[in-house]
Amino acid sequence: MAKFLVKDNGPLTGEVTISGSKNSVLPIMAATLLSDEECVICDAPDLRDVDVMCRLLEGLDVEVNADFKENILSLRAVNVTRNEVPFDLAKRMRASILTMGPLLARMGSARAALPGGCAIGARPIDLHLKGFELMGAELEYGANYVEARADRLRGAKIYLDYPSVGATENIMAAASLADGTTVIENVAKEPEIVDLASFLNKMGARIKGAGTDTIKIEGVERLHGTKHIVIPDRIEMGTFMVAAAITRGDVLLRNVVPDHVRPVIAKLRECGCLVEDTQEGLRVRANEKPLVATDIKTLPYPGFPTDMQSQFMALLTTVEGRSTVIETVFENRYMHISELNRMGANITIEGRSAVIPGSTHLVGCQVMSTDLRAGAALVLAGLAAEGTTEISEIYHIERGYSQFVEKLRGIGADISRVD
Ligand code: UD1
Repeated sequence: MAKFLVKDNGPLTGEVTISGSKNSVLPIMAATLLSDEECVICDAPDLRDVDVMCRLLEGLDVEVNADFKENILSLRAVNVTRNEVPFDLAKRMRASILTMGPLLARMGSARAALPGGCAIGARPIDLHLKGFELMGAELEYGANYVEARADRLRGAKIYLDYPSVGATENIMAAASLADGTTVIENVAKEPEIVDLASFLNKMGARIKGAGTDTIKIEGVERLHGTKHIVIPDRIEMGTFMVAAAITRGDVLLRNVVPDHVRPVIAKLRECGCLVEDTQEGLRVRANEKPLVATDIKTLPYPGFPTDMQSQFMALLTTVEGRSTVIETVFENRYMHISELNRMGANITIEGRSAVIPGSTHLVGCQVMSTDLRAGAALVLAGLAAEGTTEISEIYHIERGYSQFVEKLRGIGADISRVD
């Protein structure tokens, strides 16, 4: 089993270029099922999840050409003959569920194995299914699958009980080919929603309001091929910002949209970091004064992202004073705490809150990555810990960070991948 060995070697300095967004490219890839023409996706990150989505689409007879040297994906769903995602792929990646809306709209039916991915909570798909049902689909439940059927979806008024990212994406994609107008209320407002809407609109969809609480979709007869550049990955941005902070370094991030990481910037500033939006990119400096505690509560966008909670918690173990973190998006996203505690963090959990005493002298040891972002947090902790941190189960991390080791080494980190 491959592992990361991370050593403490002082402040990280230099420049790092952020890759295209994982959470943008996956729904966009799924949405290419909506047209029989070729779609070209630029700045596609070279990630395990993207590879799984390529295989999943190939399994549905989509022609897939991936050029990860140039980060370009060409996808053409000429003849989609199957309506089902194989279980072995679905269980590896929750985003496999994002093929359901496009398949249902294109094929008139879609069968989904109940999805997998990071084990960070129950993660049901009831809101996705509620949307399909309101658009006229009939649902049939089997042992480990659900099938939705509708000859042609029809426009509907849908209120989401929670602004779920995946449900918003799935319903928006399906509604693009529905008969009539769909209005979805209380939708997710994440930048990835806006990116998917902009991709669909380039394909000929008529979507308005992405990025606000309400999205309106006028269904069209057919969608055509297009070319699209995915937005930079805001969670990768945030992770490298914290890497600069936790090592008290000075790092310039290129290919960024600072507006997408506003809460992370705000919290880093509260801790005492200098974050500058320069012409070249976002510069994070943490070497001017001692860093201090802050409190965090995760929320849907534009709140503090749950996907940055574990990495930020790693940072908070090293600052002066006691911090509190409250996770509100997922009910089981504290699995990194036991691993950080093995490194000396002494974090306690009270319900949905975690209390971080701070001023910890982290010490490297053997730790296990339990999910994608938890794994990233352990790498960051390892950069600041005395001695060597050995991180196992790194396939989680490789699901979502492109060339993580290379990029970290490029700014001076002592990290290696060993088999
Ligand atoms: C997406 C992101 C993930 C991120 C999450 C929240 C992708 C591929 N993944 O995941 O990285 O952590 O947004 O920002 O984009 N829920 C329900 N019923 C549903 C759907 C969701 O109860 O039908 C609940 C979930 O259990 C969870 C919360 O809503 O507690 C948020 O989930 P959601 O926004 O759907 O996240 P994902 O789309 O799975």
